[in-house]
Amino acid sequence: MNQKSFDEIFNHAPTTEPERQYYFIQQARQVLKERFEERVRSGEAELIYGKEQLQDMLANEVYGTFCITTFGCQMNFRDSEKLTAILEQVGYREAEREEEADFVLYNTCTVRENANQRVYGRLGYLHSLKKKNPNLLIALCGCMMQEKEVVAKIKKSYRFVNLIFGTHNIYELAELLFQTLTEQRMVLDVWEDSQKIVEELPAKRKYAFKSGVNIMFGCNNFCSYCIVPYVRGRERSREPEDIVAEVERLAKDGVVEIMLLGQNVNSYGKNLQTPISFAELLRRVERVEGIARIRFMTSHPKDLSDELIEVMAESKKICTHLHLPMQSGSSEILKKMNRCYTKEQYLALVDRIRAKMPNISLTTDIIVGFPGETEADFEETMDVVRKVRFDSAFTFIYSKRSGTPAAKMENQVPDEVVKARFDRLLEEVQNIAAEVSGREEKTVQTVLVEEIDTQKEGYVTGRLSNNTVVHFPGEASLIGKLVEVYLEESRGFYYMGRQV
Ligand code: SAH
Ligand code: SF4
Ligand code: F3S
Repeated sequence: MNQKSFDEIFNHAPTTEPERQYYFIQQARQVLKERFEERVRSGEAELIYGKEQLQDMLANEVYGTFCITTFGCQMNFRDSEKLTAILEQVGYREAEREEEADFVLYNTCTVRENANQRVYGRLGYLHSLKKKNPNLLIALCGCMMQEKEVVAKIKKSYRFVNLIFGTHNIYELAELLFQTLTEQRMVLDVWEDSQKIVEELPAKRKYAFKSGVNIMFGCNNFCSYCIVPYVRGRERSREPEDIVAEVERLAKDGVVEIMLLGQNVNSYGKNLQTPISFAELLRRVERVEGIARIRFMTSHPKDLSDELIEVMAESKKICTHLHLPMQSGSSEILKKMNRCYTKEQYLALVDRIRAKMPNISLTTDIIVGFPGETEADFEETMDVVRKVRFDSAFTFIYSKRSGTPAAKMENQVPDEVVKARFDRLLEEVQNIAAEVSGREEKTVQTVLVEEIDTQKEGYVTGRLSNNTVVHFPGEASLIGKLVEVYLEESRGFYYMGRQV
């Protein structure tokens, strides 16, 4: 095909979604197939894939290999499942390692500086791979790409990247790939924001028995340290009917556990034309037959309603685990963080939750070293940690994100002070976690089996409703099943058990 026929293809593309993408899946597939056939004829394909794999690719109409590396949060992982499905429909097959792939995609995160550094580091390595395999296409997407400075840097110093897109148009991958395959230049398509939600696109689940389900995109909270609202755009909720329909489809397909995903699920539905609360959405999802477990991420304390506590307490399916990021225990710092709650309100909320659900497992996120954090502020955080006694906590050193209000705040805390506080906090968190874990020892609990145990032969690994890991003797046929397990021994953060 020549450039003229490529232009024709663009001119004939449907203008509505998702039809347009299904059209480009076919078009990209055609181009990929033609290129692959050329490579087979010239003998290059056999050199790259080896005789055996090439035969297998020909037999299965596979025209290349891909590898996606995902950084960051559950949202990014879910996005990668959607990107995977598109690539497979285009005719790519997943390679185990990027060294074996013709299409390498990094789905990036920019929530902390070290996430960015990792991507730059690996790009250097990809360049060396490209020198060995000139057909290799390199693509970048995700939150980092929403930052202008990042894209400018890549355009300047990493010219070998073929495709860059952002968080708002991942559904366009087939179209962008078609462009990349047919144009001899770096294809760049990053949108500042979008109100668009495209339904009915494919997704390929990593696990057969569990799946994430986006219920909303973006964030409106603008916590002063956080880059997410800038890179994920304004908050928008999916229609409850679309969510329930997706959960029903998943259940029919064998999924037993779902995780509802949003940056602040507690504000779900507020801006829909017919507003609906997150608690009401949970009630509707709970009615879907076949789903045994419902999880959700993440809950902002400021919007957690009593209605939600009630629905959780009554539910048979909602898991006994709540991730409730507190960020800091100091009301002063919380105010500067724009979190919209105080230390006392956070503690009172925990009390209300525990009054209704005494066995709930509580986990949290904490940032150390926010600008202006004094020793007294830090002690407030330690105080909340001691009072709440979290099952576990993700602790982060504050990372300055340019463009956020906190980056311009005075009194940035010196590195050595932050590090010392971080170590103290981590020790306290771990000691408490060790003390509170093991509550279910010597009881029988339901375990969803997730995988073969990688450490111990003849064992499988699963999770309790409260997310604690359990190892017990069993075989692969149990994966995806809910089984009753006697928890013989608590070993700190996990149990050893046996099936009853
Ligand atoms: N929407 C979720 C959090 C998403 S980001 C919520 O509000 O709970 C995940 C975690 O990263 C945050 O909870 C926070 O603890 C941490 N984080 C975000 N920005 C950060 C920064 N600039 N420095 C350090 N940690 C940060
Ligand atoms: Fe970031 Fe706050 Fe939004 Fe969470 S709620 S994503 S911490 S701005
Ligand atoms: Fe990172 Fe983006 Fe998630 S910045 S934490 S991948 S929303």
